[in-house]
Amino acid sequence: MPITFHSEKKIFKLDTSTSSYIFKIGEGGYVMGLYWGEKLDEADVDYLTVREGHDSNVPLSASVPDWRFSPDTMQAEYPAYGTGDFRLPAVMIKNAAGNCVTDCRYGGHRISRGKKPIPGIPSTYASDDEAETLELFCRDVTGAEFTLVYTVFEDFPVMTRHAVVKNGSDTPIWVEKAASMCVDFTHPAGFELLHLWGCWARERRVERRPLGHGITKISSGRGASGHYHNPFAALVLPGTDEEHGDAYGFNLVYSGNFAIEAEVDAFGLTRVVCGINEDGFSWKLAPGEKFYTPEVVMTYSNSGLGGMSRAQHRFYRRHLLEKKWLASPRPVVVNNWEATYFDFDADKLVDIARDAGALGFDMLVVDDGWFGKRNDDSCSLGDWVVNEEKLPGGMGKLAERIGEFGMGLGLWFEPEMASRDSDLYRAHPDWCIHTEGRDMSIARRQYVLDLSREDVCDYIVDALTSVLSSADIKYVKWDFNRKLTEYSSAVLPADRQGELFHRYILGLYSVVGRIKERFPDVLLEGCASGGGRYDPAMLALFPQYWTSDDTDPIERLYIQYGTSMAYPACTMSCHVSASPNHQTGRKTPFSTRCDVAAAGVFGYELDPRALSEREREETKRRVAEYKARRHIVTDGDLYRLIPPDGDECAWMYVTKDKSEALFTYVRIKTMIAPVAFVRLRGLDPDRTYVDGDGRRYLGSTLMRAGLNLTGGRRDAESVTVYFKAE
Ligand code: DGJ
Repeated sequence: MPITFHSEKKIFKLDTSTSSYIFKIGEGGYVMGLYWGEKLDEADVDYLTVREGHDSNVPLSASVPDWRFSPDTMQAEYPAYGTGDFRLPAVMIKNAAGNCVTDCRYGGHRISRGKKPIPGIPSTYASDDEAETLELFCRDVTGAEFTLVYTVFEDFPVMTRHAVVKNGSDTPIWVEKAASMCVDFTHPAGFELLHLWGCWARERRVERRPLGHGITKISSGRGASGHYHNPFAALVLPGTDEEHGDAYGFNLVYSGNFAIEAEVDAFGLTRVVCGINEDGFSWKLAPGEKFYTPEVVMTYSNSGLGGMSRAQHRFYRRHLLEKKWLASPRPVVVNNWEATYFDFDADKLVDIARDAGALGFDMLVVDDGWFGKRNDDSCSLGDWVVNEEKLPGGMGKLAERIGEFGMGLGLWFEPEMASRDSDLYRAHPDWCIHTEGRDMSIARRQYVLDLSREDVCDYIVDALTSVLSSADIKYVKWDFNRKLTEYSSAVLPADRQGELFHRYILGLYSVVGRIKERFPDVLLEGCASGGGRYDPAMLALFPQYWTSDDTDPIERLYIQYGTSMAYPACTMSCHVSASPNHQTGRKTPFSTRCDVAAAGVFGYELDPRALSEREREETKRRVAEYKARRHIVTDGDLYRLIPPDGDECAWMYVTKDKSEALFTYVRIKTMIAPVAFVRLRGLDPDRTYVDGDGRRYLGSTLMRAGLNLTGGRRDAESVTVYFKAE
């Protein structure tokens, strides 16, 4: 049993495949953390409770007679605001009296097999024989009730947590903050924080820095999880590297305003609180109503960052992503965005499809510009009607014409938006998020539709349904190119305006869910100006995600490296584009563009008609090779061999049975007479591996001595080696 309750000592022990998480019910009903880390063989670690004498500035609890105990220094599982713990709170409830004083004490628990979904919010799933769930029922004297939900996965070093707040009183209350989880580490201070920061076309850069005293907050307040910070962070002990050391990953399964906060207090304890960002948030609960938080995926690894990432990748493939799209190979697409931008018509698209079909591609994705009167980004978002001047006969005709070359049709939408110049905005200006009496900020000449409104959600579902049922459309790229401003909703009452951000996200999940129900065979690719909403909740709905608008393979090394910290390669959409690159102007070899794009879900973002004869031949070979070997990448284990911190970068994927591996090395910047030996990882030491030239190596040799990549590679040149075990 992964969850055990030791009733005498009131200790809960939650065991995953390699970790233990232990907490207890202390005096006064306080829920107190004890331990999270490498698996322990015993539960009774009560001695880890912090108890020390304090000065008068650290308040004592009226219900615990021990003068050494204070809420301000206890390791809390769900610390409440205003009752003696001055550190980061997990929960703050405003009551009918108008104050926010909150308390959270144990009132009972239930342990059951499996895992229940969270209403309205995507979450991880598990069958009854894969996981066990603990619900811890807590309450405040005001009648506010809190259920802390822990699910433990037996085959992964992973657990998930979320919380449910219920108004058990007979007056309204307001949830001002309800985190999904809190953990107080008993490790001595000295953690380092690793997180993913960035901006448009430079997403998910890795930053690692010591966690100092005080509060550190990684967050978004933009209405979307965003380019700037990703809802993923890891705490690592100093010295932890790719393969050794303790790493604790936190990944919030949520696409809106989030916060991952860490506080190192004066006594050296580190607290981590993750959940919906409290800034601008307030949720009214009528008597009897419940509020569900999104969940946090908590991964522990004692084999470094690589171990943490591999565990999380495997976990997401097994427990988060849609099975259907994992089992069936995804189409290899040509997307026309960088090939044509807005300058296309049916004949041009058919020409591209003809070429692409001959090269082995499966699908043409028609990007922005097929609807309304949109010939640039100034208009027509929201008017989802095919532009018959560009595409006579509509999507049905186009699908039929490109189908002759064996090509399926994919289509771009930006459903959550209305252009200022659109029939939709003219008809329904109040459908866009705005604040009465204030100017509306504009970005890309468009506004954000208010998805907290049912009528708006219905419109989006109907508009997309009408296009998607007009033709055999097999793929949708769902874009989102600006963030929310002037946050208020025309339909919410004054005391519910703080609900807008979260209601928007709930509306989005419901709209996407309804589209998926109506069109279960359409593959959805997520996009938000590239990877601006690359989070686990989106991945539960969108099996793949446009990783970044930056398609320069050198820039992609950093972006894909950072993305791989949390997310598996099967979610990472990566395209070969033209050189010089449209975003950076950098010239790179064709083969490097292919090698780097083949590290995820491979496709093209260029006009195949512009390829040279040599590039056409290479494309045919690359597409065929990718189809034959993609399982190594999309279902294999990733080993990051050389991070892109210096002049070179290398990684490899290995199948679970260790019978195949794909290794890629990129020389970022050339060097005269470089010597490069790269040790491989993850192979079977006792098996013999053969490379593409027929050279045979023992796995142990490749891992101990490595490959010899010495040679005069120029800037941005790369090599990929495929290994097959005999
Ligand atoms: C932003 C996306 O990231 C691009 O790939 C492209 O679809 C454009 N939007 C189209 O407007």
